[in-house]
Amino acid sequence: MSQSASITISLDGSNKTAAMPLLTGTLGPQVADIRKLYGQLGIFTYDPGYGETASCESKITYIDGDEGVLLYRGYPIDQLAESSDFIEVCYLLMYGELPDAAQLAKFRAGVTRHTMVHEQIRNFFNGFRRDAHPMAIMCGVVGALAAFYHDNLDINDAHQREIAAYRLIAKVPTIAAMAYKYALGQPFVYPRNDLSYAANFLHMLNAVPAEDYKVSPVLERAMDRILVLHADHEQNASTSTVRLAGSTGANPFACIAAGIAALWGPAHGGANEAVLKMLGEIGTPDKIPAFIEQVKDKNSNVKLMGFGHRVYKNFDPRAKIMKETCHEVLGELGIKDEPLLDMAMEMERIALTDEYFVSRKLYPNVDFYSGIILKAMGIPTSMFTVIFAVARTVGWVSQWKEMIEDPSQRIGRPRQIYTGAPSRDYVDVAKR
Ligand code: SDX
Repeated sequence: MSQSASITISLDGSNKTAAMPLLTGTLGPQVADIRKLYGQLGIFTYDPGYGETASCESKITYIDGDEGVLLYRGYPIDQLAESSDFIEVCYLLMYGELPDAAQLAKFRAGVTRHTMVHEQIRNFFNGFRRDAHPMAIMCGVVGALAAFYHDNLDINDAHQREIAAYRLIAKVPTIAAMAYKYALGQPFVYPRNDLSYAANFLHMLNAVPAEDYKVSPVLERAMDRILVLHADHEQNASTSTVRLAGSTGANPFACIAAGIAALWGPAHGGANEAVLKMLGEIGTPDKIPAFIEQVKDKNSNVKLMGFGHRVYKNFDPRAKIMKETCHEVLGELGIKDEPLLDMAMEMERIALTDEYFVSRKLYPNVDFYSGIILKAMGIPTSMFTVIFAVARTVGWVSQWKEMIEDPSQRIGRPRQIYTGAPSRDYVDVAKR
């Protein structure tokens, strides 16, 4: 990051001006460093939702929203989705470079050997209702990992940070599969060290003790690609939650649990589940125009789920890859006509020609097609956001590590503009 120029801010009606350094990164807009603004001008900036505010310096992921570009450590997402796999992407996100064969083998083995959870974790599940939403279980059980790794809480020790990262990347799918099995009333399935990350996850989701379960290579490849596409995405709401929690020095397992909680919202990671619900409620393609009209009516408060994005004002590159994968998976599974896919494609066609969406630069995002693939893979909608959390754990962990290792990092503490009551004296209840 270099300082190339500065911006001068002056207050109308006063002789006060402040020169703020203008910082230039590798890619993307320059940023005005306003850290001395209050000291020089006695004012704060105001940016609800942080839409125009850089909260940190990061080297992990870059998004060009206008061009629809997504880079993980500089590598385009379409190249990684085509040629890499999730474990290699995990290494790339965590360490910044693609691994050589020996580094990859060591990392893969390291993650594999952390996939089991403490046997007592099973006891947590007995406290949940069988129909509990699996994201509620994920928030609780992932956070509770902190109770099992108190020996690994010195976040200033690089080796302990790395073990925490391995444990989280490795154990979150195990816990996710346990949440699914608990809802089904089926026994938990232990991880298998002879399977790939994606195959092991599918095996834990689908195997039963009564018979062998062979993971389909088609589903393994589809799951691996879904995990790659969801792995990281700059300072989105859940990642910012993890960074803010981590900035206090909180336990890394608690920080990731906070990220899971933030991801659950339908405006964020919960959108994939909401897309399937939306398509189901519309029912048939002939009802799409009426639904689109409802979306355009502000009073309806109805959103086209899976569309729009705070950053992308062009196609989300992940949505494009997801759409292609959708066709591949349905084709390879022999699913000739999937009404939901027909509905989604018709809805995309209509929306992309409608002025309401075009003028607002609303395009399909990562969540628009992912649910259709997951449904074709036999995964229930309640598990869709859980799978997003499994994938995003490596992004959260990588961003958390980067923040902890940043010498300039300090506790996150936004300010506000106060519009409440001015100072006033207490009045006794008898006099009110
Ligand atoms: C993810 O941040 C990330 O990177 C997130 C994510 C990641 O990988 O971490 O990419 C994952 O969360 C993807 C987004 C999933 N959410 C949804 O699909 C839910 C539906 N989308 C919307 O809720 C909305 O688009 C958001 C929340 C995603 C973005 O909200 P913004 O930034 O407030 O939307 P905007 O400012 O771009 O909206 C501009 C206009 C507004 O209308 P006007 O006030 O200008 O009249 O577009 C409207 C919005 O009301 N609008 C929509 C819409 N999204 C925005 N109208 C109808 N349907 C929508 N989906």
